[in-house]
Amino acid sequence: MRKGIENFQTKLRLSSSLMDIYPGIQAKSHEEFLYQLLKDLDKERAEKRKIRNLKNAGFPLIKSLEGYDHSQITFPENLVFKELEDLNFSKRKENLIFYGGVGTGKTHLAIALGIQAINQGKKAVFYRLHDLINLLEERDEKKVTRLRKKIDESDLLILDEWGYLPLHQEGARLVFDIISACYERKSIILTTNIEFSRWKGFLFDEKLTAAIIDRLIHHSHMLLFTGKSYRMTHSLMN
Ligand SMILES: Nc1ncnc2c1ncn2[C@@H]1O[C@H](COP(=O)(O)OP(=O)(O)OP(=O)(O)O)[C@@H](O)[C@H]1O
Ligand SMILES: [Mg+2]
Repeated sequence: MRKGIENFQTKLRLSSSLMDIYPGIQAKSHEEFLYQLLKDLDKERAEKRKIRNLKNAGFPLIKSLEGYDHSQITFPENLVFKELEDLNFSKRKENLIFYGGVGTGKTHLAIALGIQAINQGKKAVFYRLHDLINLLEERDEKKVTRLRKKIDESDLLILDEWGYLPLHQEGARLVFDIISACYERKSIILTTNIEFSRWKGFLFDEKLTAAIIDRLIHHSHMLLFTGKSYRMTHSLMN
């Protein structure tokens, strides 16, 4: 009988832990047994999905909201920190723009929110803007198609270090392409220390810059990171 169950488990593509789960289930009826078994299998599958999504997200580091000091962030009137934690902006497909000086915790908060989204069963992907453009310019078309699909299937796109390095004309066009594809379909978190009026300086093209800003800010919240560099104040050299 055990061998038969194992065969069905493979044939029906059920988790191999089925064999470990079912003997431990206490149930008063067949229905309760079946319900508990399916529930446990579903829970296990969700956990595996989270681990896979975390691996695929491309976070350079793991950061958490726990212990994160947000006292130096100026929030817009219609947004409080709790709303960020609850990812309400993401449910509404709104964007967040994190603007502030170096070392003020922009990347940290962006990663922590991305991980929060994954823990809630969503997909998040993280790229430094420049890295993403390089990946999109890859010659191998299959790789580019996979990348676009990955972004397309995500719920939250994090673009870090926006404008830290200048782009070329084609790079700016690719940025527009991505922003345009995400517009009103998913949330973007963008971190930058470049104010809007200077975006043309790294995107070059005036029309493209205006079109990108227009799409980004339509449904977005700007958070100002006003503190001193965390790196500087917590430096060992101090
Ligand atoms: N409010 C905070 N609470 C806890 N740790 C923080 C906070 N702000 C920053 N840090 C830590 O300080 C370091 C620098 O932060 P982070 O990399 O997020 O800065 P940044 O704003 O992205 O800077 P840059 O513009 O240079 O990329 C990180 O190790 C981060 O974990
Ligand atoms: Mg950063």
